Amino acid sequence: MAIPRETVEQILQASRIEEVVGEFVTLKKRGSNMWGNCPFHNEKTPSFSVNPARNIFKCFGCGKAGDSAKFLMEHEHFTYPEALRYLAKKYNIKIEEKEQTAEEIMQQSIREKMFNINEFADKYFVDTLWNTDEGKTIGLQYFRERGYLNPIIEKFHLGYSPAKWDAFTEYAKKNGYSDELLEQIGFSIKGQKGLYDRYHGRVMFPIHSLTGRVIGFGGRILVNDKKSPKYQNSPESEIYDKKQTLYGIYFAKNAIAKQDECILVEGYFDVLRMHQIGIENVVASSGTSLTMEQIRLVKRYTKNITMLYDGDAAGVHAALRGTDMILSEGMNVRVVVLPPEHDPDTFAKEFSVEYVTNYLKDNAKDFVRFKTELLLKDAQNDPIKRGQVIRDIVETISVIPDSIFRITYVKECSRLLDMPEQTLTNELNKMLRAKLKKTLGIEENVVTETDTTTTPKQDETVEDQLPAGYYQERELVKLLLMYGREMIVDERKDEEDQLVYEQVSVAQFIIDDLKNDGCLFLDPVNRKVFDLIDRAIDEGNIPDDQFFVSNEDEAIAQLAADLLSSPYKLDQWARHNIFVLSEEDNLRNTVMSSLLRYKDLIIEDRRKAIEEELKTTEELDNQLILLKRKKDLDDIRMRINKELGIVIAK
Ligand code: UTP
Ligand code: MN
Repeated sequence: MAIPRETVEQILQASRIEEVVGEFVTLKKRGSNMWGNCPFHNEKTPSFSVNPARNIFKCFGCGKAGDSAKFLMEHEHFTYPEALRYLAKKYNIKIEEKEQTAEEIMQQSIREKMFNINEFADKYFVDTLWNTDEGKTIGLQYFRERGYLNPIIEKFHLGYSPAKWDAFTEYAKKNGYSDELLEQIGFSIKGQKGLYDRYHGRVMFPIHSLTGRVIGFGGRILVNDKKSPKYQNSPESEIYDKKQTLYGIYFAKNAIAKQDECILVEGYFDVLRMHQIGIENVVASSGTSLTMEQIRLVKRYTKNITMLYDGDAAGVHAALRGTDMILSEGMNVRVVVLPPEHDPDTFAKEFSVEYVTNYLKDNAKDFVRFKTELLLKDAQNDPIKRGQVIRDIVETISVIPDSIFRITYVKECSRLLDMPEQTLTNELNKMLRAKLKKTLGIEENVVTETDTTTTPKQDETVEDQLPAGYYQERELVKLLLMYGREMIVDERKDEEDQLVYEQVSVAQFIIDDLKNDGCLFLDPVNRKVFDLIDRAIDEGNIPDDQFFVSNEDEAIAQLAADLLSSPYKLDQWARHNIFVLSEEDNLRNTVMSSLLRYKDLIIEDRRKAIEEELKTTEELDNQLILLKRKKDLDDIRMRINKELGIVIAK
């Protein structure tokens, strides 16, 4: 049920970050901030800070940051609406629920009915396992033979569905559940003699949602029957969406967050076994290939995924498919391949927990190493195949959103393949360019508004070769967020070359200036902030920092919390040549110099690209065009440097 927008704002405004955090973390005041031990990672000296003035928290150790709602989502694993409801209750704000439509009420009641029958079935299967002769001698005996102990069987609510063809169907009908519902949710299938059980004669695994409600089941067959699949699973329904579900997530989420790592396995029993030996940060994709939705689900708790797959060819193949998807979400992925005869279940059964833990530690390979070793095996001396392998790996590197990580992986790849780094970088840039072109092709009209003579196609080169541009860009975003609404004096020449002064907001000043010189932000999240503010200026209403910190777009909220919590560490500022005047003292100067330095970097880079292009351009006409462009850029740079000189001298 949706919470009205005004109420959301009211709740966020009423929330005091120090009070919300204070319920979970002991805070001590030091300076204008409060400090405590970070609840999201293990530490002995406090690096977790709360800034009451800006109403945000930030951990300088692990980087988590945000507003009160974000804290609760991280700490209590609430969804956003759950966090808001918690805060509303804490601050006595009444939530007027929007009225539901007839259809919503229908939907709601179908979902309720489904949860209800699942709970009923869960009890039935568990009860049958423990308290009937058939359950005990067949179902429980099966778990015992495979070495599963009571605590695990109880914790995961494992059960048994009797062999009689309609045992559960009949029991459920007696208890008032309709044929329609039984079929819809998948417990029963219509045959010639009427409804019969989907799971007869199987041990049962309830599948839990994030909050622990039963949304579906899997049932394993116990006899060798070639006609019947090994596992029968619930069909999808209003409450069970397979691509959004990971088996075991409810039992694993706390361990995943605490250890900042999620181990991904394939099967039900793999999850059970790992839990039984005490490794609890484990979930299963349940046999289907991994989906983006499942990856994002994990991302709520950690950015690190370790894939632990069977040693056979299928397992390795599945791992290969998953890595690109995980990387493209900006997460880290490592792969552990087990000895060929093992799956995680048999492996963890055979060895001690120490051995398994060490094996994971020693054999986890980042994807570059994993892919390289795997692919090079059969390409070693074949130059054509080798070339293909290199392209394949660089292709994977190109899906990583963060340029700094891309550079790291190029370095490793260069070492492993014994290839010059530059060759790989060239290959990578070629792919990035191709991708960019494709994106630009779709968004043609967005680009044409900038000056085409000064916007050649090398955006990604700026990002790759000049990480400094990245920091300069962030510096500008930070000024936009912190001081966007402040007014500064803009001096410019009018038609008669007279100096005129006028008051403009910092936001307008920065945005107009960048637009004038065709230097729009390159990083997609920065660009989103840019566009948001640009639109807000048109509407005459520049948002404040809280708007960004509490933004519904998670990437924006994270960026804002990061930027507002701190300047970069001093050495980083110095390294990237960023101007650190005291910001408040001389706002106009800081804004000006940041803008000029940013543009200087961008222009310099465009100039470099033209020089490169000149080297390979043979036709005279084209050379002349390029030379003219270079000259234009030189003029702009001169102007920028002159202005910069004036600003710094002031
Ligand atoms: P596995 O065949 O590896 O099963 O399939 P497993 O979990 O190791 O089971 P045991 O050890 O043989 O008893 C991996 C996962 O694929 C799904 C299940 O989720 C299973 O856990 N699967 C497999 C199905 O859904 N249907 C099938 O017929 C087979
Ligand atoms: Mn198995």
